[in-house]
Amino acid sequence: MALGESKKKRVVSGMRPTGRLHIGHYFGALENWVRLQGDPEFECFYFIADWHALTSDYADTSAVAQNTIEIMTDYLAAGLAPGQGPGKSVIFQQSLVPEHAELHLLLSMVTPLGWLERVPTYKEALENVKDKDLHNYGFLGYPVLQCADITIYSSPEIAGLYVPVGEDQVSHVETSREIVRKFNFNFGEVVSVAKLATSDLRDRAVELYRRLFPSDPAPAKIGVAEAKKMEASMLLILGRSRSAGNVEMFDGQWAYFSNFVERSLLVEPEAMLTKTPRIPGTDGRKMSKSYGNAIMLSESNESIWEKVRPMKTDPARIRRTDKGNPDVCPVYDWHKLFSPKETLDWAAHGCRTAEIGCIDCKKKMVEHLVTWITPVRERRIEYEKHPARVLEMIDEGSKRARVEAQNTMQRVREAVFHWDKKRAEFKTVLDVHESHG
Ligand code: TRP
Ligand code: SF4
Repeated sequence: MALGESKKKRVVSGMRPTGRLHIGHYFGALENWVRLQGDPEFECFYFIADWHALTSDYADTSAVAQNTIEIMTDYLAAGLAPGQGPGKSVIFQQSLVPEHAELHLLLSMVTPLGWLERVPTYKEALENVKDKDLHNYGFLGYPVLQCADITIYSSPEIAGLYVPVGEDQVSHVETSREIVRKFNFNFGEVVSVAKLATSDLRDRAVELYRRLFPSDPAPAKIGVAEAKKMEASMLLILGRSRSAGNVEMFDGQWAYFSNFVERSLLVEPEAMLTKTPRIPGTDGRKMSKSYGNAIMLSESNESIWEKVRPMKTDPARIRRTDKGNPDVCPVYDWHKLFSPKETLDWAAHGCRTAEIGCIDCKKKMVEHLVTWITPVRERRIEYEKHPARVLEMIDEGSKRARVEAQNTMQRVREAVFHWDKKRAEFKTVLDVHESHG
């Protein structure tokens, strides 16, 4: 990092390549991604989660490759700009950065099954999804892989890891935080000591710390081995019989002990919720391609009108002369995304007084929707003509992401196995032998 430069917050997010993206994806995520890309405070990593697509759809992988190209094309059309530096993002494909899988494996070692079985999206999917086989190790481990996707971009050079996601993904980020805490507890380096619950205990801990490390002003960096020893002595002095290594128990006790020492290796990620409320589909349900109620970013004008014309409105407006309530109408929700203030006022007033009909209202909304979507669609068409260039961008971005991922894996491997230290020991022994030989 150059002198005078401040640490950047790092943003990581991804989507599964399940097909073309629709306006629900745009307002639920992409709009926010593009905004963060333009903010100099952030450094953005966006990816295509093709491994995650396999967790539920391993039985038929025929569409994954094409969908990967489609989603990249949509990313570009939406305004994500591949590259490094201001206004650019590192855009890549998960499976082209195999370090994600290696970190996933190591994280899986410390992740209790119960944490995964309790993830709300897991329980819901098992109850509701009947046309897919979800009783697999991979599907249960979905949040562990997601945790690896995010935390592989941990670095001492950043000011935090942020994950812009919709509400449905918040539990995954929460699970990631718990996994990271446990992983750091086992393998991390101690950076600060004794943020204890009560000042009485804190004072005693600091006192002890000073005694054990007289030349080292707290907080300081010490190795895991010393920290464990120190922790044991502290527990003894403080009259606690329980080991701080009991990290399975996330009760009051654990929270207390976890604050005993702070270990750092991977960065605990934070969810950044998108502010746009969930946008309804043409039938008022959640917008989803599988419900047939979505407008794709590639949708033609004719097709947009065909979908909007029969759209559900306020059910109380049966006849043209019935007064309506825009607040319960999905068309009005869409107006809020695409129309200027005058049109919003016109629609709300016209609806409440029955001065306008729903068809007038929909036509006006579609006009503004088309104005919004036209440049996105044009960019999409341009990239669609050059799929080889799109693939090249994925490869370039993945190489860039891989540099970061490899750095992290190097640190993680050393923290887990200490091979560099071991090798250095052998070398010393060898040197001694040689010098005596
Ligand atoms: N689970 C996310 C989704 O279904 C996709 C995803 C995978 C992701 N890994 C991630 C999102 C890491 C954010 C960060 O949309
Ligand atoms: Fe909805 Fe517009 Fe019809 Fe009112 S007039 S119910 S806002 S479509």
